[in-house]
Amino acid sequence: MSASRPPSTINLSVARLRAGGHAPRIAVLLGSGWGPFAARVQDAVTLTYAELPAFPAPAVGGHAGRVLLGRIGPHEVAVLAGRAHAYETGAPDGMTGAIRTLAALGVQVLVQTNAAGSLDPAMPAGTPMLVSDHLNLPQRSPLAGPAGPAGDDRFVSMVDAYCPRLRAQARALAARAEVPLAEGVYAWVLGPQFETPAEIRMLRALGAQAVGMSTVPETILARHAGLRVLALSLVTNMAAGLSDEALSHAHTLSAAAAAGARAADLLQAIVAGLEV
Ligand code: HPA
Repeated sequence: MSASRPPSTINLSVARLRAGGHAPRIAVLLGSGWGPFAARVQDAVTLTYAELPAFPAPAVGGHAGRVLLGRIGPHEVAVLAGRAHAYETGAPDGMTGAIRTLAALGVQVLVQTNAAGSLDPAMPAGTPMLVSDHLNLPQRSPLAGPAGPAGDDRFVSMVDAYCPRLRAQARALAARAEVPLAEGVYAWVLGPQFETPAEIRMLRALGAQAVGMSTVPETILARHAGLRVLALSLVTNMAAGLSDEALSHAHTLSAAAAAGARAADLLQAIVAGLEV
């Protein structure tokens, strides 16, 4: 537990989420393009991040985040719409309180989603990609800083950070839904600027298939908290230098919106079918 974030904010957040009457074992963190999934949650009770003191405040000019508690298929879920990005403050620990609240609530699996640029010509815009592993390019960690209480082990193994068993289930569920699902390594960059073509050549040489500005800090936090992680990227563009397309945040959002309904179908099939 971070020394800078008193446990009471987490306890208070847990209490407010529990008051919804749900006991989620799966949490889904929605990134750009995956927003339509929120409408798939049945019997949803919604809280804003502003009601949850351990959750991040909205970025300047951004929308308030919200948590939906409800059901997807047989599972009780907590769906988080909105995440703090490291590029907003320079600090990678904006989701620390939120992830620790989920763990304290009894969540065992974190399903992450994001928008990403593709480094692989076989993965054009609109392709969903299962994250097999990641590259923490900025080499920043939300666990860095003063030690927590005695017994808190921050030296977390990142082998199998993306649970092999959950990945096998996701592959099988996508196949059953007849949705082609790519798989590859996600390279985290700090952003907010896009990459140079030289950086993209470097990332390809390092073995990445996708690049994006999120997800990795939350995976580290979730593994530290004992959660298993599954992550899905939605390709919104070919990365810099790989096509003539001009990159912009507006383009990311419009490409994500174009693929959003199909992405939500896939995510629904995967979450409903997971064996937790
Ligand atoms: N680079 C980094 N982050 C991204 C991209 C990209 O090309 N597309 C969507 N998120």
